[in-house]
Amino acid sequence: MMGRRTEASVALRHSDTDDRPPGVANPLPSPMSATLTHASDCSATDLAAAGISVRFQGLAAISEVDLTVRRGEVLGLIGPNGAGKTTLVNCLTGHQRPSEGRILLGQMDITGWSPQKFRRAGVARTFQSGRLFKDMTVLENVETTAVGLGRSRRAAAREAMDALDWLGVADSAERLAGVLPYTDERRVAIARALVVPPEYLLLDEPAAGMSDSECDELLGFVNEIPGRYGCGVLLIEHNMRVVMNSCSRIVVLDGGRRIAEGTPEAVQKEPGVISAYLGEG
Ligand SMILES: Nc1ncnc2c1ncn2[C@@H]1O[C@H](COP(=O)(O)OP(=O)(O)OP(=O)(O)O)[C@@H](O)[C@H]1O
Ligand SMILES: [Mg+2]
Repeated sequence: MMGRRTEASVALRHSDTDDRPPGVANPLPSPMSATLTHASDCSATDLAAAGISVRFQGLAAISEVDLTVRRGEVLGLIGPNGAGKTTLVNCLTGHQRPSEGRILLGQMDITGWSPQKFRRAGVARTFQSGRLFKDMTVLENVETTAVGLGRSRRAAAREAMDALDWLGVADSAERLAGVLPYTDERRVAIARALVVPPEYLLLDEPAAGMSDSECDELLGFVNEIPGRYGCGVLLIEHNMRVVMNSCSRIVVLDGGRRIAEGTPEAVQKEPGVISAYLGEG
């Protein structure tokens, strides 16, 4: 863990331009270096949303939501379509600035940081829809992320292959990402989020559209991530069987508000959850 943190600090000192594409490192030292190095020092503690609200032209997508992701756990985030799950994850990864409230990494207020800064501080994610570079190979997709986070090309290649291998897609390393079967594409997206191992990994419906067996296979990997990488995982997933089996804790959103939080056993008994979500379909 210490080694990882040291590497993260080095990467932070060497690249910190907000709006560059992934993989294009800025060689100039940044005035934010001291703060960012400090962030990696205190990132052993929770990633938290504190009273966050997001409004889109008057529509309250999420309202006064508190949520904490802890290292070593798989936290489930559930709720009906439009409940605000993706918006909350966007806030927790720097893709959406909350209208109110704060995002905290340990003791540090990181509200307003760019997605690149979140990633360098140890907060990674996958997206609800694809987002691989389709005209690059699978290996290049993952490698580029590692290089962008400060790894040497050699270290990036090795780390990328390790992640692809673990996720069972190493055989596709030289294929173009655009021709991958859907299930493999989702695995590559996770591999990309795991290089330069994050402290937190937020997965937005990683198994959407998969059959039960494909879903179980993918979630098998997700369940191993905290032990293997030492990070906290936030999992958005609609399949309640999967959520109940995979998650130690669950937060439920409905209409942009947090309506329940607890163990799977406790949450599924809450009347509000049953009517809002479990009762669906
Ligand atoms: N960029 C945006 N502009 C305007 N409204 C948005 C935007 N993004 C999300 N919304 C709205 O905010 C609400 C929450 O959306 P969000 O995508 O966070 O829900 P979700 O729980 O992830 O849903 P799903 O299960 O369908 O993925 C919805 O009413 C949605 O239409
Ligand atoms: Mg969503």
